[in-house]
This record gives sequence, C-alpha cells and structure tokens, in this order.
Amino acid sequence: MEKIKIVNTASYVPAKTVSNNELSQIMDTSDEWISARTGIKKRHISVGENTSDLCLKVAKKLLEQSTWSAGSLDLIIVATMSPDSYTPATAAIVQGKIGANRAVCFDVSAACSGFVYGFDIMAQFLTNQKSMRAMLIGGEVLSKVIDWTDRKTAVLFGDGAGGVLLENNQAEDSAVLASVLKTYGDQHEKLTAGQTRPVVEFPPLERTQLHPFDMDGQAVYKFATHAVPETIDEACQKAGITVSDVDLFVLHQANARIVKSIAKRMKQPLAKFPINIDEYGNTSAGSEPILLDELVRNKQVERGQIIVLSGFGGGLTVGTQVIKF
Ligand code: ACO
Repeated sequence: MEKIKIVNTASYVPAKTVSNNELSQIMDTSDEWISARTGIKKRHISVGENTSDLCLKVAKKLLEQSTWSAGSLDLIIVATMSPDSYTPATAAIVQGKIGANRAVCFDVSAACSGFVYGFDIMAQFLTNQKSMRAMLIGGEVLSKVIDWTDRKTAVLFGDGAGGVLLENNQAEDSAVLASVLKTYGDQHEKLTAGQTRPVVEFPPLERTQLHPFDMDGQAVYKFATHAVPETIDEACQKAGITVSDVDLFVLHQANARIVKSIAKRMKQPLAKFPINIDEYGNTSAGSEPILLDELVRNKQVERGQIIVLSGFGGGLTVGTQVIKF
C-alpha cells in the first residue's frame, strides 16, 4: 500500500453561466428535457480564457493554500481533452507561467477518465521517487470543441478545472489502496472530439479543420452504467474492502441518471454519491477534482475516510481509485 497523500484541493470555473432556458433560445431544446434527462441546470462557459488559463488559476490556488513553492514542484500533469494546442502540453504552459522550473510536465489524454488516469500515473511516479512533489490538474474548455447547433451534445458540457497536490508521505495514514484502469479501443468511435482530417491532395486546398464533439449517447450511457460498477468492485477487492466500506463515491459527473443508476446497481445509498452536475454540466477531466474540492471545502470529505474516485469517457476509457483520504 503506497502512502500517497492528497495534500490539498482547488478548483476554478469561469464566471459566465448559461442556463438551460438560455440554451433553449439558441437551439431546439428545453429546461424540462435537459433537467429530466441529465440533471443539468446550467453550465459555466469560458469567454476569452483557454484551458491553460483555467488550469493556471487552479495551480496558483493549490500553491497559495499550501506551504509548497512553485520551484519545489517535481511533476505537473494536466488531464484534458481540450488542450490549448497539440503542442506544447497545457501542463508546460502552466509550468512556465507559475515558474515551476524543476518540474517535468505533460498532458494525459483519456477524456473524462483523464483525472483518474493521471492520478494513477502520478501515484506510480511517487511510489518510485518518494521525495517528489506533484501537481495534478484536470481542466477543460469544451465550449470551443462543441457544435453549438447540435442539441444532442451541446446541452451536456461545461468548462472548468480542478486539481490536487500529491506527495508520498510515509508518516501519515493517507494512501492509494487500489487502482484499476481499462481501455476499450474497439469503441473509439463512440465519442470523438477534435478529429483531424488527412489532406486529400497536395498542396491542400483547405486549411486544417477540426471536427467538433460527436457522441453515441446511448452507447456511452450503457458503457458507463456497467463499466464503472465493475471497476469499482474490482478496485475494492484489490484494496481488500467491500463497497459498503466506502464512505463516498466521487464519480465523473456526466449525467445524474448515470450516477443514480450506478448507486442502484451497486446497492449503495444515493447519499454516498454526491452530485453537482446541476451547477456545472459535464466538465470531463475537470469534473472529479471540482467535485472533490467542493466536498473538501464543505467538510463532507475528511481525513481517514475511504473515497472512491471513478471516471469514464472517450476511448472508451474507465478508471477507479480507492483512496484513504
Ligand atoms: N433537447 C430536446 N430533445 C432532445 C435533445 C435536447 N437537447 N437531445 C436529444 N433530444 C431528443 C432526440 O432527438 C430524441 O427525439 P426522438 O425520440 O424524436 O428521436 C429524444 O430526445 C430522445 O433522445 P435520446 O438520445 O434517446 O435520449 P436519451 O434518453 O438517451 O438521453 C443522453 C441522451 C442524455 C445524451 C444520454 O444518452 C446520456 O447521458 N448518455 C451518456 C452521455 C455521456 O455520459 N457522455 C459523456 C461521456 S464522458 C466524456 O468522455 C466526454
């Protein structure tokens, strides 16, 4: 058991919010449909801030709330499916702006599982190099890759970022008890965003254009309600606990119905499954760290509790960590 500790948490969302009623003025949808099918009431939309700007705000908060200086960081990972650009990595932009000169930086691309994938990678770094100081941020500006004329996807997503500082602290009880990650690449076409097109002739006649977000919603729904409970069961077994020993399930916020269905399937009380999708929509890699930060600030998560982090999304990917907070 590795004594990886979440030192602290932070989050940031853009100030502008767009309600379901406001969306219904620009596309054929309604508050009734969106609320009933997803639990979403509004989402935060970035105006003028890119993904690295949101992540930078989180990075600064994390450092301000800790005793760590930027120069003492060894590793920064940003999980995102909406990076500022193909290169440089969003993590490198954050590193440059906070002056974390020693830190090695890269992004993780696993869509809405990005935060749990990044968490596992970081835990392994910290297991091998025990004195490391690490920063993990999940952040998205999905509004720039959404097709705002496609009501099937546009109503679901929002912008936001959250993160944690992590260390290997042998002196304390906090630990990663187990981690399970899975990828189902045979279903890679079920959820895509930012697909590129190869040139069809040379020299190309058009400048490069990215495809907006596209998703087979029902397939992803079915995947999530099966794959998430399966990985949670597997991770709990690996950790030597039962699901009933878990105090809180911090699940990816894609749809309140998915969360409720998972709780039912696992025969666990819904009270153990906090939901904040009404406020933010689906913020992909940002969703679990935003929720975790809210829970920590509201003192709903306390040291010593057993927490499950679980995400699913494009790839298709799924991942779960069992953590002693
Ligand atoms: N407003 C009004 N009507 C709509 C809207 C909308 N925004 N969107 C679709 N509809 C209509 C459809 O056209 C359809 O009409 P029809 O019956 O006349 O054809 C009807 O509503 C039902 O559509 P469905 O797609 O069957 O609705 P469903 O109940 O499956 O809900 C949803 C759709 C919310 C997308 C659901 O399938 C879902 O949540 N899937 C999982 C999505 C998910 O989790 N994605 C995130 C993955 S994480 C990541 O990696 C980013």
